[in-house]
Amino acid sequence: MRLLLLSSAPGILQEWRAAVARAAPGIEVHGPDEEVPAAAFDAALVFAPPRGRLRRYPNLKIIFSLGAGVEQLIADPEFPDVPLVRLMSAAKQRLMNQWVLYAVLRFHRGFDRFEELQRAGRWEWQGSGPGAAERCVSVLGLGDLGRASAELLRDQGFQVRGWSRSPRSIDGVHCLHGPAGLQQLLPDTDILVCLLPLTAATRGLLNAELFARLPRGAAVVNAGRGQQLVLEDLRAALDSGHLRGAMLDVTDPEPLPPGHPLWQHPHLVITPHMASYMPHESAIPSLLDNYQRVLEGRELLHLVDRARGY
Ligand SMILES: NC(=O)c1ccc[n+]([C@@H]2O[C@H](COP(=O)([O-])OP(=O)(O)OC[C@H]3O[C@@H](n4cnc5c(N)ncnc54)[C@H](OP(=O)(O)O)[C@@H]3O)[C@@H](O)[C@H]2O)c1
Repeated sequence: MRLLLLSSAPGILQEWRAAVARAAPGIEVHGPDEEVPAAAFDAALVFAPPRGRLRRYPNLKIIFSLGAGVEQLIADPEFPDVPLVRLMSAAKQRLMNQWVLYAVLRFHRGFDRFEELQRAGRWEWQGSGPGAAERCVSVLGLGDLGRASAELLRDQGFQVRGWSRSPRSIDGVHCLHGPAGLQQLLPDTDILVCLLPLTAATRGLLNAELFARLPRGAAVVNAGRGQQLVLEDLRAALDSGHLRGAMLDVTDPEPLPPGHPLWQHPHLVITPHMASYMPHESAIPSLLDNYQRVLEGRELLHLVDRARGY
């Protein structure tokens, strides 16, 4: 395989080269500015390449997305007619699992309230609230990341519901799908976790109408994409006390501009889009496996369906 790496992240070419040299020494990795003819590349690993850029490489058999969200790639009308796949690894799932578990426990065990009490100089415990078995956590998106998080929360003893576009089945998780499934799930949800891809159907999904269908005191957690949540609606729901709190890894815009009122909101935690990422070395098995599959004409894993939008 001769792999083209297209990403403007500083140092990424050297890092990938080193990771590939350790794990799969037969593979050559080059940046676009090196003296390798464009026709010599048969695979590409890309993050937000300029529009139409991939058209310059006529012999690509497969394109790997470095980013988990592929909305920018799909939006390129000149994207070549080459299979686009996402890279996935257990390490990436584990990172998201940790972030989601932290967010859920923050509200479930009341760490948000203890932070407030501490700021007020109060040492106080009102007794244990509901146990995990009485707490309903709903995970929107049951893909590679959402499914892993739903299973982890189930194993922690929570009542877990999951929501997807098409019907899914996960042991010990009550799975719902489609718009009717979402309406069914909201009224009983104590903590809502969004791990959806950004598509026309999920843009703006977390809005005033949806928040109003959650019970008073529910919490909202988003690690999908910022454009899925309407910040002004979230602010209103937090200010009115309808929502107890929120934790966001993604916002729109990202980052929020300096002075944005949500920076200081007492019931909101914002992390800088760090919930999960792909440690380079962990991605190599998924990359090699899919490359082999494309050579042999077998089904690809994590293949992006451009018509579906993810
Ligand atoms: N914050 C971070 O650090 C970070 C890191 C990685 C990823 N992410 C975000 O997490 C997203 C999910 O990643 P993934 O790997 O789990 O994606 P994935 O494997 O493609 O799964 C997407 C899931 O969302 C569901 N879905 C899509 N559109 C829907 C709709 N309109 N209604 C209901 N369900 C819908 C899909 O339903 P089906 O099962 O029916 O297909 C699937 O279960 C990524 O797209 C990215 O935006 C964030």
